[in-house]
Amino acid sequence: MRDGINGSIVSDDIFYTDARFSGDGRWILIYGSNRELLRSATGAVVFRDGRVVEVGPGPDLLRRHGEARPINAYGHLVTPGLVDCHTHMIFAGHRAAEFQRKLAGESYAEISAAGGGIRSTVAVTSEERDDLLEKSLSARLERWRANGCTTVEVKTGYGLTPRREVRLLELVRGAIQRVPVRVQRTALLLHALPDEYRSRRREYVEEMCEIVLPEIHMRQLADAVDAFCDPIAFTVDECRALLTKAQELGLAIKLHAEQTARFGGALLAAELRALSVDHLESARSEDWEALGRSGTVGVLLPAAALTLGQALPRATEIRAAGARVAIATDFNPGTAPAQSLLECAALASRLCGFDADETLRAITWNAAKALGLEERVGHLNPGAWGDAVVWECETLEELPYWMPAVRPDCVFMRGADLALPAVERRVWP
Ligand code: NIG
Ligand code: FE
Repeated sequence: MRDGINGSIVSDDIFYTDARFSGDGRWILIYGSNRELLRSATGAVVFRDGRVVEVGPGPDLLRRHGEARPINAYGHLVTPGLVDCHTHMIFAGHRAAEFQRKLAGESYAEISAAGGGIRSTVAVTSEERDDLLEKSLSARLERWRANGCTTVEVKTGYGLTPRREVRLLELVRGAIQRVPVRVQRTALLLHALPDEYRSRRREYVEEMCEIVLPEIHMRQLADAVDAFCDPIAFTVDECRALLTKAQELGLAIKLHAEQTARFGGALLAAELRALSVDHLESARSEDWEALGRSGTVGVLLPAAALTLGQALPRATEIRAAGARVAIATDFNPGTAPAQSLLECAALASRLCGFDADETLRAITWNAAKALGLEERVGHLNPGAWGDAVVWECETLEELPYWMPAVRPDCVFMRGADLALPAVERRVWP
């Protein structure tokens, strides 16, 4: 059993080769100790046993690693595999009709209050067969890999009741064994109050803290715990109760915050030193400054902001606060039916003003930090997992430039050049 991909039972030797990108790879991107991006023109990278051994000038590495099998990147850009650090990939159905209501002027909060929104996806997901949910999640993960993502976070959150949330976590565990993608599992436990608990709000939060969290911990069903801190969801105190209990059990924590209104979640996440706080459309400079001080990554979700007609923060504000920022798809059927991380990054680059270096960092190293994986994922420094992408372009500046997004030529996982699906399977319902 390999230790790099959570819960996977695929053996090591399926995945690694001793490969070496050689010769005319135009740019190989690694990170220096100061988090700056180092570009190595005509560089090479050597993988052994699934990890990066060395990065540097091609001719030097070719001489020193004569035993390795060279793979030529033919002058194309090579980057670390992308990291999508926020998705809600396990769900059934879609909400295209709701999108039309939004366009006609109804707000997210109004639709949610009228029984639509998250609860409507919960109803459809609860009725869906286990095998179909598992299969659609696997197919989605394959599509993400074909788009250059080698690490993907999958949240639950469309179960809501304790029993249904645990069911979704079990299905995630099943699905990720089928696909060679590094998956981090997050239990999103306070997403919306289920109808079954309408008059028992306090009891619901207590059950999540006292029954569901210990079960998740005992059965190792998730790597992290998340909650939705918002006037239309849960209060700062309710989220604090859940997240502190999760921390006591040794689980990492994350938070959806400052989405429909500024509500205090970003400051809570900073105080608790959460891995990340996500959304932040309604955050202020003080929130970004707190994130800068705590090291909590701020995750921007441009597809959700666009769907709900909200603005994203400016890159200048984030730079001034010294905060680390990631960009993610937030893939979900309500606010973000977005299936390409690079496409989302190209949008955020325009909407916020991130340069090409910042954009790449936001979907690699900073995104890996948002998942607690930055030691080994999100860069090609020696010791990192050999997860890399050769792109159908020649320069870094082209990555956020082209729309639709640049396609990968090859996707490497643990040093192995994996076959990409030639014809993508249908992955929407
Ligand atoms: O991250 N904000 C809360 N949760 C999801 C949306 C869920 C939904 O509308 O189905 C999000 O945007
Ligand atoms: Fe989300």
